[in-house]
Amino acid sequence: MTRILQGKRAILTGASGGIGQALTQELVDAGARLVLASRNTDKLDALAADLREKATHLIIVPTDITSPEDRNRLIDTAVATLGGIDLLINNAGIGSWGHFANSTEDICRTVMEVNFFAPVELTRLAMPYLSNGNQPSVVNVTSMCGRKGMPAWPEYSASKFALVGISEAWRAEFARFDVDVITIVPGMTNSGFQDRWLRKDGRAKLNFDEGMSPRFLAKKIIEAIKKNRSEVIVGSEAKRMLLFNRFFPRLTDWLIARKVKSLYKD
Ligand SMILES: NC(=O)c1ccc[n+]([C@@H]2O[C@H](COP(=O)([O-])OP(=O)(O)OC[C@H]3O[C@@H](n4cnc5c(N)ncnc54)[C@H](OP(=O)(O)O)[C@@H]3O)[C@@H](O)[C@H]2O)c1
Repeated sequence: MTRILQGKRAILTGASGGIGQALTQELVDAGARLVLASRNTDKLDALAADLREKATHLIIVPTDITSPEDRNRLIDTAVATLGGIDLLINNAGIGSWGHFANSTEDICRTVMEVNFFAPVELTRLAMPYLSNGNQPSVVNVTSMCGRKGMPAWPEYSASKFALVGISEAWRAEFARFDVDVITIVPGMTNSGFQDRWLRKDGRAKLNFDEGMSPRFLAKKIIEAIKKNRSEVIVGSEAKRMLLFNRFFPRLTDWLIARKVKSLYKD
């Protein structure tokens, strides 16, 4: 099946962020009709102002996806202005970088709320409309940490594993309604993500400047939507790591543990 994006009615969460902005641009270029959500109204306004002339339909709905009222308002506004929903892209997310031993329950719950419970409940609200949609799909932006738990990313890995897991279960369940589920598994992306982490005290050297560009990832996401892929890993280091881990899981764990021990020996 080839999905045509022209005229599709789409909700995108996390539109104010690096990947969300690049995705918005690509969706506008593809002719989708858009409802953009995130909390930062200034950033959403600026994005909308840049693209409004080019866009077929673009509105912003300031939304904290962890708020049930905001989620309801987002879906209601999308349905009222677009007449339905064909595409829900769950892209909003938050990171926290540091070891579990000195993390907190609050961080764990916040990461799970934003990265798992919120997209899940948003999808629950969207399903009645998606099931009447045109080539409908749910797109979940997860992470390579959702396929391989990484040290200093305990809460984040758990939240993304949960999102990957529910996406897999939904894929078969939602087939009843002809709603596709597309899982995006990105590696490191130079989006500014690290500026917004809840914690930043991991010791490994992370070089986000060398990650892929949000534009590259956004193009891969659009391709996955058009080609109706089930799951797509994006980024060379993510592909390498997940492939190595698949064939040599014990060796991978040993190498990672050795690295952690050397980083935390004093
Ligand atoms: N960058 C990477 O290396 C990387 C790698 C793998 C996966 N990812 C995933 O890609 C997605 C996009 O991340 P990014 O790299 O573009 O990071 P980003 O620039 O920090 O963007 C995150 C987006 O999520 C939104 N958001 C966070 N909490 C929210 C909340 N409670 N309600 C509504 N929106 C919320 C932020 O908007 P507001 O602050 O305006 O609300 C922002 O638009 C995330 O799911 C992330 O986990 C990123």
